[in-house]
Amino acid sequence: MLSQKWCNSTIFRIFAKSYIAMQKNITITYDVFDRLEDLSPEDRKLLEAATQAAKGAYAPYSKFHVGAAVLVENGNIVVGNNQENLAYPSGLCAERVAGFSASALNPNQKIMAIAITAFTNEFVTDKPIPPCGACRQSLIEYEIRDNHPIRCILRGSTGQIYVFHSMVDLLPLQGNFLA
Ligand code: THU
Repeated sequence: MLSQKWCNSTIFRIFAKSYIAMQKNITITYDVFDRLEDLSPEDRKLLEAATQAAKGAYAPYSKFHVGAAVLVENGNIVVGNNQENLAYPSGLCAERVAGFSASALNPNQKIMAIAITAFTNEFVTDKPIPPCGACRQSLIEYEIRDNHPIRCILRGSTGQIYVFHSMVDLLPLQGNFLA
């Protein structure tokens, strides 16, 4: 990263023909858990639902089975898994299958949390599987619609569990466009 002093120097300004008014930092904070048993019962139940859902993925091409479970304000849990299609890219990620279904099936209800996990028989997923950019943006829209942060619980098939407190933490600044 260029230092502010260098950016503001005359020589930099002559060559870059720009002037940086300030540099800002974005910090995100998330919780890391070593064991499933350390999660709150609610988060644990959601992650277990996602783990079950992953088993039902239709992933004959990638063989990467993703499961997601969404907790709705009324207590309903709506699951989804990735659905692939020969006519790529007609398939859809688990997160959007779950998020869109949750919204469709529970109109006027806030989306509170999503748990995501994945497994493949090709290797061990021992790190949390983060949602793709399109899924992050899709979920952020519900966060903004509902004026409520969506907790995001991530785990591989084993290993540590990451809990994010808002989808915006996973895609900073997006909230600025819609708020
Ligand atoms: N996939 C998901 O369902 N969620 C993610 O966050 C990452 C990727 C799916 C899409 C595709 O079916 C397979 O995993 C491989 O990319």
